Amino acid sequence: MSRNHNIAVIPGDGIGPEVVREALRVLARVATQEGFGVQTTVYPFGAEHYLKTKEILPESAFDEVSKHDAILLGAIGDPRIEVGLLEFGIIARLRFGLDLYVNLRPVKLYAEHLCPLKDKGPEHVDFVVVRENTEDAYAGMRGFFKKGTPDEIATQEIIFTRKGVERVIRYSFELARTRNKAKKLTMIDKANAVRAMDLWTRTFAEVGAEYPDIAREHNYIDAACMYVVKNPEWFDTVVTSNMFGDIFTDLSAMIQGGMGVAASGNIHPGRVSLFEPIHGSAPKYGGKNVANPIATIAAVQMMLDYIGEARAAQRIEAAIASLLRSKRVPSLATDSGLSTTQVGDLVLAELEQPVRV
Ligand code: IPM
Ligand code: MN
Repeated sequence: MSRNHNIAVIPGDGIGPEVVREALRVLARVATQEGFGVQTTVYPFGAEHYLKTKEILPESAFDEVSKHDAILLGAIGDPRIEVGLLEFGIIARLRFGLDLYVNLRPVKLYAEHLCPLKDKGPEHVDFVVVRENTEDAYAGMRGFFKKGTPDEIATQEIIFTRKGVERVIRYSFELARTRNKAKKLTMIDKANAVRAMDLWTRTFAEVGAEYPDIAREHNYIDAACMYVVKNPEWFDTVVTSNMFGDIFTDLSAMIQGGMGVAASGNIHPGRVSLFEPIHGSAPKYGGKNVANPIATIAAVQMMLDYIGEARAAQRIEAAIASLLRSKRVPSLATDSGLSTTQVGDLVLAELEQPVRV
């Protein structure tokens, strides 16, 4: 594998540019430490660009972005613009267009004081959620009839395909195997109410038969929300549909400390993939240099792991873990109590410590 990586960067809106700025400092530093090359191409897409040019993500830019080794995204969304326009035009466009069918969201608590749950520590919170990323209500098959009248009908189809469900379930069984932890895969669905999810039930059983070493568990989404607060240690690897995964991982992020630390990878194994914090653009904090960049730095960690720079990824994880354990970052809320630059500086300082295993 080449050790010269071309990264497309879309800082986006609100706090996106600030947190990406710090994450790129960290990326440059670990590249030097591990001796690999990295070239970044920054793209302007987002609210400002849209307001200036009416362009969301042109085809030519989509093609160009796709030719990189990976994509790093900050955040998209701006209150001045119609709800969902940029989110669908940029984030969903990339997820669907690049067929990034896995949304990988690790949930790992690094220090007990960061967990809002009583008597839960790092040994209780260490699981990974695999969120299906190309189907469900997100496919955007929707419409309005008699819009604006008292007889209005609004629809949005929840769609699942055998192919889509099977590939994400298979990925999750493989992941449960490589994690080699509890060797357990929990599927979260709502098959008792959304009967279309019977497709998930059947596929889980059929694919699961090929993985006799992996225990299969099943929770309905409502119960899973209760269990993850009550007994987060019950989870190891989790697979779920797009919308449930979206919701469940915000809840999970709070259990690992807050939105300031939760990162994700939008992945199609073997192809160009996109890495981003799971938080949004937080417009009220945008441009103030107060947003916590750790989630985006953790997204860089996931990206490096994906493109074959596992040691650089480990360096970043060790730096984040050590910094958080030291209690020098007061909180993992979007606004951590320190400036964005200060947190970036602290991570960079940790990177200079001798490598820990
Ligand atoms: C996420 C975000 C997006 C989603 C929004 C911005 C469309 O909340 O990545 O979790 O719902 O997938
Ligand atoms: Mn979300």
